[in-house]
Amino acid sequence: MDSILQLHHVSVSAKVGNEKFEVVKDVSFHVGKGETLGIVGESGCGKSITAKSIIGLLPSNAWLSGGDIILNNREISSLKKRDMRKIQGKEIAMIFQEPMASLDPVYTISEQLAEMIKNHLKLTRSEIKNYSIDLLEKVGIPRAKEILNEFPFQLSGGMSQRIMIAMAMSCKPEILIADEPTTALDVTIQAQIMDLMGDLKNENQTSVILITHDMGIVAEFCQRVIVMYAGEIVEEATVEQIFNDPKHPYTQALLKSIPRIDERQESLPYIEGSVPSPRSMPKGCRFADRCPLAFDQCFDQEPDLISINNQYKVRCWLYEKSNRKG
Ligand SMILES: Nc1ncnc2c1ncn2[C@@H]1O[C@H](COP(=O)(O)OP(=O)(O)OP(=O)(O)O)[C@@H](O)[C@H]1O
Ligand code: SF4
Ligand SMILES: [Mg+2]
Repeated sequence: MDSILQLHHVSVSAKVGNEKFEVVKDVSFHVGKGETLGIVGESGCGKSITAKSIIGLLPSNAWLSGGDIILNNREISSLKKRDMRKIQGKEIAMIFQEPMASLDPVYTISEQLAEMIKNHLKLTRSEIKNYSIDLLEKVGIPRAKEILNEFPFQLSGGMSQRIMIAMAMSCKPEILIADEPTTALDVTIQAQIMDLMGDLKNENQTSVILITHDMGIVAEFCQRVIVMYAGEIVEEATVEQIFNDPKHPYTQALLKSIPRIDERQESLPYIEGSVPSPRSMPKGCRFADRCPLAFDQCFDQEPDLISINNQYKVRCWLYEKSNRKG
């Protein structure tokens, strides 16, 4: 499969006050044409920051501190903002986790959609209007004509999320990054949106990076998965491999913490302990203090991400036995 996007050793740092720290470390992966790659991991593991680094929309106090990002055989991480804007929307688009942050409060929905569409598609004003209505209806927005004339503050969270999804899909991007695209939506709309992403994918061979906490969504939509922990990739595999035989103790714990649909629970099971802060990363394996299988070396040295075969990578001393001390 031809790859459309490649990340090579991407690191992202941030500065808060006088303190600089790394939030994403040495992340490498590729996305094939027409492929859906899932990125999973608990809150704070660096999924959104990795995604934002790809589309060039990192928060103002964060920057790419290492690595290259290749989109359609072109290095894009060093592009000027103006050149990056030319590819945003058409070559690559993103559905953000925080919908309000990506809608401009001073323009109506219609103006924002039109701006995006006219930059990339050759349509007349009335065609843009009809296309906008069509898009809003597709993402399940009732009264689409009226909503077009409203401002973001007039919309609920779920509604703004759908508008943003419509915007991200409007120019039929070659690659769509969807960061928790359906979290704020009810189950029926969630299914509708996922179907819509499926259609976009089938019609245009769109590649998708799907960031989600929902392993059910991963199982249904993704071909490969990347598991992130504390700013790093700890496992990369096909969906079948991850579900049938997860290698990394963190992935195993993540999968165990998924509630079964037939077992209604008051509270979700969770992995004890918490993700370390990027300001104080442990010296050895970043998962060591939560790992049921940890041994001495884990607390002392960090394992590399090693290839088990050309489809499978894992970062854990258990799979690097030849390198173990003693
Ligand atoms: N602008 C920022 N400045 C400093 N630290 C940041 C900034 N944005 C994110 N971080 C830190 O970087 C780490 C990764 O954050 P990120 O938002 O990518 O996590 P995530 O995996 O998307 O989590 P979630 O599932 O909650 O969305 C976290 O520790 C977070 O606190
Ligand atoms: S390296 Fe050690 S602590 Fe880390 S996941 Fe593997 S066994 Fe657990
Ligand atoms: Mg996030």
